Amino acid sequence: MKITIIGTGYVGLTSGTCFAEVGHEVTCVDNNPEKVATLLAGQVPIYEPGLEELVKQNVAAGRLKFTTSTEEGVKNGEVIFIAVPTPPQPDGSVDLSFIEKVAREIAQCLTPELGYRVIVDKSTVPVKTGDKVEQTVRRYAPAGVEFGVVSNPEFLREGCAVDDLLHPDRVVIGSNDDRALAFMQKIYEPFVAPVLVTDINSAELIKHAANSFLALKISYINAVANICEASGADVEKVAEGIGMDKRIGRSFLNAGLGYGGSCFPKDIKAFIHISESLGQPFGLLKEVEKINYDQLDRFLNKIREKLWVFREKKIALWGLAFKQNTDDVRESVAIKLAQKMLGEGASIRATDPEAIETAKKFGELKGDITYHTDLYETLDGADALVIATEWPAFAKIDLTEIKKRMRTPLVFDGRNLLDPKDAKAAELEYISIGR
Ligand code: UDX
Repeated sequence: MKITIIGTGYVGLTSGTCFAEVGHEVTCVDNNPEKVATLLAGQVPIYEPGLEELVKQNVAAGRLKFTTSTEEGVKNGEVIFIAVPTPPQPDGSVDLSFIEKVAREIAQCLTPELGYRVIVDKSTVPVKTGDKVEQTVRRYAPAGVEFGVVSNPEFLREGCAVDDLLHPDRVVIGSNDDRALAFMQKIYEPFVAPVLVTDINSAELIKHAANSFLALKISYINAVANICEASGADVEKVAEGIGMDKRIGRSFLNAGLGYGGSCFPKDIKAFIHISESLGQPFGLLKEVEKINYDQLDRFLNKIREKLWVFREKKIALWGLAFKQNTDDVRESVAIKLAQKMLGEGASIRATDPEAIETAKKFGELKGDITYHTDLYETLDGADALVIATEWPAFAKIDLTEIKKRMRTPLVFDGRNLLDPKDAKAAELEYISIGR
């Protein structure tokens, strides 16, 4: 199939590349000429395992192209995916201006001679956005143009995006137009995945409802962790015990500092806003948010309790990314934690396997902070070690080295990466979550 993707951000670039990988002819459009030049040179501007090789291979095979021209994209692609940002606004609602702009641009490039086109929304959007896209394209396209509108939400996780795209749990395709649905089914034929076909509103809603449910699982286990702390139970065992019930499942029951990233915080806020604007307020999600934000404060209080004051204290901070296997620091709890500690006068030595450069560029960490690629270097003379991101490499650390290098061997594990028994054996004062 001939596919065009508009927007080469996380979702657009990885989806376009994976469509090319399964044999489709893909044109990726981005309005940033520098980004397009970088991609044409075979370089990928984000850290995502396996992506760069796939981009190179598919560009070389002639199945993957990059351009700044929407016109070229609309000409090349029978199916045109919109994958542009849908950022949050201060009141929690979703800013749909990029979607609207792209819909208009597509419309202006359509001609009756091009034939039928499918316009697919891949970005996360509020329910009923498809109607708006359809109205906008209809209004701005020349008379006689034929098109269908589809919602095809993306469920990829950063850090394992390529695998998630090539082997998805499910593919959701929503449209009220059978012709458009037939095109979409053909696109997904090479993927071994169950396909759920729905109307367009349901497909849009599935994305917000799924992410909110996952966030709910995280807040649920964090609330349980707090009860474990108060009662002397172990949240890891509790998660294991409840997760063995197939109806619940063990995944997304890792207690810790809570969720961050470019999706969950924004999507939960958006869903709260959507439910309110439809007159069906979803109070449960407000509690999910509250538990998530309180989790960071609780952890900070545990550190304060031991250190008494942050001023003149050296903190080794492990983790800057919002989770493991990514260099993304957007809405990272690790960054928020660092900001608070710096604000109270701590001196931080930070490390992260991938996110040092993005954290520097992000520019939100001001104060006495240095960055180190060597984990052990951060520990020298430190008053406390704070683990903020669940990188598996952190769990493999030599605990005796921690004890040897730190001024006081106080370890605050915000992701439950270390085994409390090992920490005790290494004579560390070890504080984690819900254990
Ligand atoms: C998420 C959804 O999983 C994905 O389907 C959607 O398309 C985009 O949003 P992502 O943001 O990449 O993906 O990361 P995810 O792996 O879901 O983790 C989100 C956050 O939750 C991270 O901050 C992580 O640290 C936290 N988390 C996750 C927990 O605190 N505990 C868990 O058990 C799982």
